Amino acid sequence: MKVIHTILSLKHTLNDERISGKSIGLVPTMGALHAGHIALVERCVAENDICVVSIFVNPTQFNDKNDLLKYPRTLETDCELLKAAGCLIVFAPDVNEIYPEPDTRVFNFGSLEQVMEGAFRPGHFNGVAQIVSKLFDMVQPDKAYFGEKDFQQLAIICEMTKQLQLSTIIVPCPIVREEDGLAMSSRNTRLNISERESAAKISEILFKSRSFAGRTSIAELKQQIIQIIDEVPSLRTEYFEIVDGKTLQPLSDWKDSDYIVGCIAVFCGEVRLIDNINFTPKSPKGDLVSDRP
Ligand code: PAJ
Repeated sequence: MKVIHTILSLKHTLNDERISGKSIGLVPTMGALHAGHIALVERCVAENDICVVSIFVNPTQFNDKNDLLKYPRTLETDCELLKAAGCLIVFAPDVNEIYPEPDTRVFNFGSLEQVMEGAFRPGHFNGVAQIVSKLFDMVQPDKAYFGEKDFQQLAIICEMTKQLQLSTIIVPCPIVREEDGLAMSSRNTRLNISERESAAKISEILFKSRSFAGRTSIAELKQQIIQIIDEVPSLRTEYFEIVDGKTLQPLSDWKDSDYIVGCIAVFCGEVRLIDNINFTPKSPKGDLVSDRP
């Protein structure tokens, strides 16, 4: 496994591989890798000749400076995990390599970015699109792997790929969860013991709520879930939306879509966690969001 820090070296290495006809898969990450990331990497390794994993804590997507500063950086252990998973190239540039000058590009994802994460984290998806479009340009991957945990991010990346007319195939990968259901996240390491216990309630409550889908009104279910979560110590819901899984627009009636996803952001102490649940797992389009294992 090669660990590469410069764009020039990355391009040289990949050009050689491409000339010899090898397929290239990319898994973009911000490091602090866990089993959720590794599941993407294993899939990328299985489906491509060369698996490239990028590790870059992208400053332009952080709307909260404190979050950027506190983001865990664990390159050495990340590389050990990636080697064991069969990754062949790690691309770990520093900030000046990626942004020698400020990226002034402004993307427009319309209503996709005006809700949920887009509404609560202004500029976040523009930053995500800036870095992912740069990575796609540098790596020119045949396929790129993204987790359904970041459900809105996945929709934005699909839209960006369409807008830029890129030929990269976006491969959605199911959410990987801890034993108790908590969606794996690099941020989970920042939870103390009691917060960690509370955090597990988020997915537990979401999964229980599934049995009310179609029976209780959307407005009522939303309100109940928010109330139950906010009663758990340390938890404070930022938003919970029940949306169409394609347009991401909030729904008012269960009958208005055959692909319905509940998306949530919750502060657990100081740590902001996100998760989502498919309320229509049997829907033909319902494969963008995972079921509980
Ligand atoms: P990061 O949070 O490191 O996540 C990298 C990829 O791993 C994303 O596609 C994310 O959805 C996926 N992932 C994280 N936790 C997961 C889980 N529990 N189950 C399944 N997949 C999971 O997302 C980013 O980085 C950044 O925004 C990035 C796309 C790299 C751009 O900077």
